[in-house]
Amino acid sequence: MKLYEMVFSPTGGTKKVCDIFSNEFQGEKRTFDLMKMDLSDCKDEIMSDDICLIAVPSFGGRVPVPAAESLKKVKGNHAKAVLITVFGNRAYDDTLLELKDIAEASGFVCIAAIAAIAEHSIMHQFGTGRPDKQDQEELKKYAAQIFQMLSEGHTFGAFVVPGKRPYREYKGLPLHPKAGKLCNECGACVSVCPVGAISKENPKVTDNETCITCMGCVAVCSKHARKLNPILLAVASNKMKKVCSNRKENEIYDKWEG
Ligand SMILES: Cc1cc2nc3c(=O)[nH]c(=O)nc-3n(C[C@H](O)[C@H](O)[C@H](O)COP(=O)(O)O)c2cc1C
Repeated sequence: MKLYEMVFSPTGGTKKVCDIFSNEFQGEKRTFDLMKMDLSDCKDEIMSDDICLIAVPSFGGRVPVPAAESLKKVKGNHAKAVLITVFGNRAYDDTLLELKDIAEASGFVCIAAIAAIAEHSIMHQFGTGRPDKQDQEELKKYAAQIFQMLSEGHTFGAFVVPGKRPYREYKGLPLHPKAGKLCNECGACVSVCPVGAISKENPKVTDNETCITCMGCVAVCSKHARKLNPILLAVASNKMKKVCSNRKENEIYDKWEG
């Protein structure tokens, strides 16, 4: 049994959660970065006795489009999948349901799903510092339990995750990071952008129609040159305050069968 991690994590919160989980696995591991859309490498690699952690952030309560597109090209070959969605302390709405639908259509057998909280990658005042110690302990414990049950040959049944079809409509945000004077055109943002929205020739130019506001370019910029419009961000943050302020807890979905 080999462990695969398939992770879309523009600013590292999703990867952090996925790693807490995968660190409990003792065998061979391989990571596929869903930020780079080419997954041709793993087309025929995954076998039915492997286990795959499929981890995406919730963007507007949905699976981020480039992650969904990449996952649709993967061949699951009946491997077991643990689905992980990570959200910024608002809600994940239909993300797990959409992720489960995509994983099953790609040939995975989903055995468990987790919704975990990480710091909000746009409004950092929400979910600040998460996953924290309590989250880490919970996730570690659950991961250890899953790997033990698998090694003991227990089976997992069909389980239901929250969410509705048709999925919640999400058309992206009217906010896009812009390069300021500190930009030295190093191009780090160009390489990290999962949708090719930043010009290679002039990294100060972003195509806002293509940009999905994943914040990867902001996180990677060592000069802190890329920012969202602070006024629009303050307005959006204010709107979200009520719904994002109370601590949300991690959720786990599965069904053990003997
Ligand atoms: C475009 C965008 C949309 C988001 N939508 C939601 C949301 O609907 N609900 C929520 O709780 N958090 C939302 N978040 C916060 C992220 O889900 C959260 O910060 C996640 O940890 C980001 O993953 P990353 O750190 O791997 O980039 C959103 C973040 C971005 C960038």
